[in-house]
Amino acid sequence: MIRPAPEAEVTIRLMRHEDLGHVSDIERRSYDFPWSHGVFRDCLLAGYQCVVLERDGDVAGYAILSVAAGEAHILNLCVEPAFRSHGYGERMLDEILFRARTSSVREIFLEVRPSNMHALALYKKKGFYQVANRPKYYQAHEGREDAAVLAKKLITES
Ligand SMILES: CC(C)(COP(=O)(O)OP(=O)(O)OC[C@H]1O[C@@H](n2cnc3c(N)ncnc32)[C@H](O)[C@@H]1OP(=O)(O)O)[C@@H](O)C(=O)NCCC(=O)NCCS
Repeated sequence: MIRPAPEAEVTIRLMRHEDLGHVSDIERRSYDFPWSHGVFRDCLLAGYQCVVLERDGDVAGYAILSVAAGEAHILNLCVEPAFRSHGYGERMLDEILFRARTSSVREIFLEVRPSNMHALALYKKKGFYQVANRPKYYQAHEGREDAAVLAKKLITES
C-alpha cells in the first residue's frame, strides 16, 4: 500500500474545539450519513477521548473513544479521503488502543457497516473479531443496514 512521503510530518494530539470545523468537513466528505458539528462538540463536552491526526500541521483524521467501567467504545475513526492508505487510520487506532489500555480497559468494542470493507480489514488486522450483529442499526439509502459489532480484549498494565 502507499506509505507517507518522508517529508510529511504526522502527529496525533487531543482534539480541541477549534478543530471542529475541519473535523466536520472531513466527516461530511467521508460518510453518506455524517455526524453533525454538534455531535462532535458533545463528544468533547462529554469528556470522551477525542484525538486528531495532523499532517504537516493540518487536521487529516480523527478518532473518538468513550471509556466506562472497564470497557471502551470506538465511536468514530476517520481519515481525510485524500490521505487514505497512508497508514494514518492504523496509527490513530494504535493511539486509541494505547489510551484504552492506560485507562485500564479490558475490552474494546465498535460497530461497523458490514459493507465497509476497508474498515473491516483494518480492524481485523488489529485483532478485532465479530461478536454480534445489530439488525437494521444504520440509516441507509434504501431502508436500514445491519451493524457488525466487533471486539478486542486488551491486556492492561494493572
Ligand atoms: C477505515 C479508514 C479509517 C482506514 O484508514 P486508512 O488510513 O486509509 O488505513 P491505513 O492506511 O492505516 O490501512 C491500515 C489497514 O487497513 C486496511 N485498509 C485500509 N485501506 C484499505 C484499502 N483501500 N483496501 C484494503 N484494505 C485497506 C488494510 O488492512 C491496511 O493494512 P495494510 O496497509 O497492512 O494492508 C479510512 O478508510 C476511512 O476514513 N474511511 C471512512 C470512514 C470510516 O469508514 N471509518 C470507519 C468507521 S467504523
